[in-house]
Amino acid sequence: MGFFSKMFGLFSTHLAMDLGTANTLIYLKGEGVILNEPSVVAIDNNTSKVIAVGREAKEYIGRTPPNINAIRPLKDGVIADFDVTKAMIKYFLTVIRKDRKVSKPKMVVGVPSGITQVEKKAVVDACFQVGIRNVFLIEEPMAAAIGANMPIELPRANMVIDIGGGTTEVAIISLSAIAHSESLRVAGDELDEAIIRYLQKKHQIAIGVIAAERIKMEVASVAPASFKNVPVTLVGKDMLTGIPKTIRISEEEVREAIEEPVAAIVDAIRRTLERLPPEFVSDLNDSGMVLTGGGALLRGLDQRIEAETGVRVRVTDEPLFSVVMGAGMTLEDMGKYRRVYIN
Ligand SMILES: Nc1ncnc2c1ncn2[C@@H]1O[C@H](COP(=O)(O)OP(=O)(O)OP(=O)(O)O)[C@@H](O)[C@H]1O
Ligand SMILES: [Mg+2]
Repeated sequence: MGFFSKMFGLFSTHLAMDLGTANTLIYLKGEGVILNEPSVVAIDNNTSKVIAVGREAKEYIGRTPPNINAIRPLKDGVIADFDVTKAMIKYFLTVIRKDRKVSKPKMVVGVPSGITQVEKKAVVDACFQVGIRNVFLIEEPMAAAIGANMPIELPRANMVIDIGGGTTEVAIISLSAIAHSESLRVAGDELDEAIIRYLQKKHQIAIGVIAAERIKMEVASVAPASFKNVPVTLVGKDMLTGIPKTIRISEEEVREAIEEPVAAIVDAIRRTLERLPPEFVSDLNDSGMVLTGGGALLRGLDQRIEAETGVRVRVTDEPLFSVVMGAGMTLEDMGKYRRVYIN
C-alpha cells in the first residue's frame, strides 16, 4: 500500500470539486461526475434559511419577492459569501449522500491560480466545516490541463485558457507547475452584461441576465467568417413605456455587443505570449494551446484566437467538465500527481 493510499485510508470517499463562479461540479472516484449544478443559492432573508440551491435557485434570479435573495456566493472564482458557499457545498453533499454511502470524505478542490492565502483558507475552512476531512487544492488551469490529457510533467509549454463565468485564466504549465499565468476578470458573465447594455442603448429594451446568457449561447459568434446563425426573438421590457416589447436580434448585433470583452480576452492571451521565453513560444508552435471552460463554447472563439495569435487552438471535448475531470483524475493516482497540489 503506497503512502497516499495509507494516508487516505482504504474506506474513505474520494471526491473532486470544481467550485466555479457559474457552476459547481463534483466527481466521485470510481464513478465520475455525479453532480453538476449552477452555483446559486436562494435564501430567506428573515430566517436565513436556504430555500433552493442549484438549478432551481437559478430560476429564481430576478424573480424573487423582497424576502428572498437568489445569491451567487462566488465571485471572480473565489468565495465572496462564506456562509452561503458553505451552505451550498453542504447541500450538494446531502444530494450526493442520498444515493450512496459517503464516509470520511476527502476532496480535491479547484481554485484559481494566483489565489491569495486568505482566499485559499476560506475554501479549506468551508470544506472542513461541512465535514470534509482532508482538502487538497489544485489550480484550475492545472486541473483542466490534466483533464485535457496534456503532458504537464514534461519540460515544455502546455498552454491552457480557461474561460469561466467570472474569470479567464491563461496559464503555461511545465514540469507539473504553473510557469506563467494571467487572470482576467472578464469572462462569460461579462459577455451577458455587454449584451444587456447593448440592448438598453440600441433598442431601449431591458432584459435579464438569464435571457442575455441564452442569446449568447444561441446566436453569438465571433468567428472571423460569420456562421450566419438564425436571429432570435426575445421579449423584454420597453424602457420608455414599461410594457413588454418583442424584438429580433441578429448575429451581427450580438457580435457588436460582445466585441469589447471578447477583445479583452484575446488581448490577455496575446500579452501572455509576448512575455514568454522563446523556448516556450516554440513549444506552442508545435503543440498549440487548449481552450476550456464554458466560454470556450462561444462560437468561433477558437478561430478568432488562432487568427490573432498565430497559435493553433484546440477546444477540449467537454469544456464545462475539464476542471472537475482533471481534479478527479488526480484522485485516481495521488502519488503520481502529488506535486500538483498547492497546499
Ligand atoms: N454554449 C455556450 N456559448 C457561450 N458561453 C457558454 C456556453 N455554455 C456555457 N457558457 C458560459 O460559460 C460560463 C460558465 O462556464 P464554467 O462553468 O466553466 O464557469 P465556472 O467554472 O463556474 O466559472 P469560473 O471558472 O470563472 O469560476 C457561463 O458564463 C456560461 O454562460
Ligand atoms: Mg471554472
